[in-house]
Amino acid sequence: MFDFRPDPGQPKAETLRQLCDAVDALTAGEPDGIANMANVAALLWEFLPGLNWAGFYRMVDGELVLGPFVGRPACIRIPLGKGVCGTAASTGKSQLVADVHAFPGHIACDSASQSELVVPVVRQGTVIAVIDLDSPELARFDAEDQAGIEQLAALLSGRI
Ligand code: SME
Repeated sequence: MFDFRPDPGQPKAETLRQLCDAVDALTAGEPDGIANMANVAALLWEFLPGLNWAGFYRMVDGELVLGPFVGRPACIRIPLGKGVCGTAASTGKSQLVADVHAFPGHIACDSASQSELVVPVVRQGTVIAVIDLDSPELARFDAEDQAGIEQLAALLSGRI
């Protein structure tokens, strides 16, 4: 059994650090990328409060295809450049969106979502996936969250 639940009263930086450590411990030595993405989605859900969706879209033949996640069923395919995920994938840059309704072309998979953080996973200069976090709270994510998830994405580059 794995029990990685963080102390809810601790500073966010500590929670993000523990999340990275847990991801490192659980994915090290496991070559199956789907298994690793599934466990990382579960860890994101356990560690980060205030989410309604946490998971992956993978780059497959030039478009994003739904990967392992926790949350409500979601749209399966997202063209590059479309929505928050497609923008992160086409630019290779994280998208920190305080209000999804103000983001042109946002794709509403779950009407509860109000804010979103999408971070690309890059291997040898190519985006291979994005990590997508949605929240029912406006402005749930900040620069500290972005930096923590970018660190996670760097760690996952060779593991998914
Ligand atoms: N909102 C995303 C689509 C994916 S769902 O949030 C899970 C977007 O605009 O790309």
